[in-house]
Amino acid sequence: MIRTPIILAIESSCDDTSAAILQERKILSNIVANQEVHSLYGGVVPELASRAHQQNIIPVVEMAIKAANITKNDIDAIAFTKGPGLLGSLLVGSSFAKSYAMGMDIPLIAVNHMQGHILSHFIDEGDEMPKFPFLCLTISGGHTQIVKVDSPNKMKVIGTTLDDAAGEAFDKSAKILGLPYPGGPFIDKYSRKGNIHAFEFGKPKVKQLDFSFSGLKTSILRLIQKGIAENPNFITEHLEDLCASIQYSIVSILLKKLEKAIIQTGIKELAIAGGVAANSYLRSELGELAKKKRYQLYIPKFEYCTDNAAMIAIAGYFKYLDKDFAQQSETPSARLPF
Ligand code: KG4
Ligand code: ZN
Repeated sequence: MIRTPIILAIESSCDDTSAAILQERKILSNIVANQEVHSLYGGVVPELASRAHQQNIIPVVEMAIKAANITKNDIDAIAFTKGPGLLGSLLVGSSFAKSYAMGMDIPLIAVNHMQGHILSHFIDEGDEMPKFPFLCLTISGGHTQIVKVDSPNKMKVIGTTLDDAAGEAFDKSAKILGLPYPGGPFIDKYSRKGNIHAFEFGKPKVKQLDFSFSGLKTSILRLIQKGIAENPNFITEHLEDLCASIQYSIVSILLKKLEKAIIQTGIKELAIAGGVAANSYLRSELGELAKKKRYQLYIPKFEYCTDNAAMIAIAGYFKYLDKDFAQQSETPSARLPF
């Protein structure tokens, strides 16, 4: 009997080292090693990230194989993140994958990290999956995009940020508030008891389906500087309201453009992907909107929102079906369009 293909995937684009094993569209294991070291610096330090990837990659792959209850010889192909991301970090994952493919004599598959985020919706968890074409709001620490997805291997960015990404807007605001890095989850947490209308910030005026978050950051900084000048305890006394108001502003910017894209394209199948898709306020607001307007909404499991190799494995699986294999000469790319 021919068994379904088993894929080992490696993700090392930023500060998480991850390995996953996928069979057909089911995840057998998904191991993520976070790098704590960066929180000391208030952001990812590229040199430290690549060094930590070098230390983590072999144990993480071994753990993934063990947790999946398979052996090295069961693996039919290896997928890796080609980009976008930090070059030094990408180099560790891609060099490992190339050596592995050569040593085991199996095909090599190069995956675009952002496509991975989007295709995480097709991991078989027994839930309904988006139907093509659908719109995906892809929001992470490095990207903010509205993507029209026609098929697993055919997608087009129809809106993007002109400056900061949504995740950066969360993280930079958190830094201003003195919260640890990455600040997105902290803003999410402190917002729960805050008033979303306590503070008002400037709204961007950007054409078409594009985004901008840099003005918001300046507006937040000004408000906080003014607040502290009047009361040195301004942040601690208003932390929950500040977080809720910042989160409300970021989510409103995202939803406004997503609604515009729905109207322009007429597509009512919607998905969200990327680290910021873990935000609880965004998830509930979008859920309400979808219910009201009868949009079909797909929200990935939390573990598939932030960076992970399971999403690289599913994207690799679709390329495997197309026999879209990479060569040993393949090199990673910090900026990689679809
Ligand atoms: O996709 P991801 O793990 O890495 C990149 O590819 O960038 O996204 C990381 C981003 C960070 O900016 C982080 O603060 C944000 O996702 N994030 C959140 C939440 N969880 C992660 N932002 C807001 N609310 C959250 N719950
Ligand atoms: Zn990501």
